[in-house]
Amino acid sequence: MNPIVANNKPVKVDLTAGKDYYFCACGRSDNQPFCDGSHAGTEFKPKPFTAEKSGDAFLCQCKHSANLPFCDGTHKKFDDSAVGKEGPGIEAGANKIPVASATTEEPTV
Ligand code: FES
Repeated sequence: MNPIVANNKPVKVDLTAGKDYYFCACGRSDNQPFCDGSHAGTEFKPKPFTAEKSGDAFLCQCKHSANLPFCDGTHKKFDDSAVGKEGPGIEAGANKIPVASATTEEPTV
């Protein structure tokens, strides 16, 4: 089961530093980008997070960002016809913290 693409653009929300939020990971909530309990009966659970700073943040609504709950631009691969449907799933390993590795451009990482 993959997350539903709730929208193909992020949503700007006003977060309060230190406050806990429950990000909808399943894509089924009617209260995007937050959980409204609609994941019941699926294998999904909301993703809790604590805002590190107050102010605007762009949260993922395509539900396929590798940096949930934040938008990482992955929504660009979904056109309007993908909205409201189950997506391809977050790429394997996408949720892991990227490990710096040396490249020709950045040989000293
Ligand atoms: S409604 Fe989507 S995670 Fe709860």
